[in-house]
Amino acid sequence: MSAVATANQGSADISLGHLALHYGRLEDGETAARFLEAFGLRREQAFPLPTGGTFYHFIVDPAVSGLGDGIVYLSASPPAQRALVEAIHEALKVGQEGEHPAVAAFQQGQGQDPEYTFHVGMLFRSLEQVEDTIARLRDLEKSDPAFAGRLKVTLNRAQPGVAEIDARMDASPVFADVTRHPYGRHAIQAFVESDLFTAGPLGGPLVLEMDYVFPGHPDHLFAKVVL
Ligand SMILES: [Fe+2]
Repeated sequence: MSAVATANQGSADISLGHLALHYGRLEDGETAARFLEAFGLRREQAFPLPTGGTFYHFIVDPAVSGLGDGIVYLSASPPAQRALVEAIHEALKVGQEGEHPAVAAFQQGQGQDPEYTFHVGMLFRSLEQVEDTIARLRDLEKSDPAFAGRLKVTLNRAQPGVAEIDARMDASPVFADVTRHPYGRHAIQAFVESDLFTAGPLGGPLVLEMDYVFPGHPDHLFAKVVL
């Protein structure tokens, strides 16, 4: 009884364990894996699966316990899931004449807000790391045909009002000209949407989010959401 009550209050003995991502087309596996590496994840394992494609195991943060937390798995969407997504596209005439109106509404919502539906957020320990990662991904999209047209970056500059943060934003090679802001203070967000991954009701794309919180401000984005 007491153990249940304690767990329901939020136990400090739990960490976020793993996340299982999928690529939709078998030929996208290695590019999706390289995307996660460019994002800063460390490739730990890769081996072929009997159902097709390669199974990858990534470490997000080598500083965590190593007992099953801080992991991202990446594998091919299983055949039945791929068939289901295809059937949904056919039934709703996605991208064709006579498309079901629910499709455009969903896509419009996602187009306006990268956090509209399922997405994955990762917290970075330095703003420079976020800026370097965005630059690396943009370079990849320009220079590597495998990434051409596969990435879409959306940035949220820190809300204005703190001189030191405002000055850092103005000096940023990535955020200086950005006019969007997060739903909270003292933080930035950088979203990279990619159709290399399959997720959500229409089978993708997936948004990966990079976050950075400026230290010394207890009322930051992840402490208090402000709409
Ligand atoms: Fe988010």
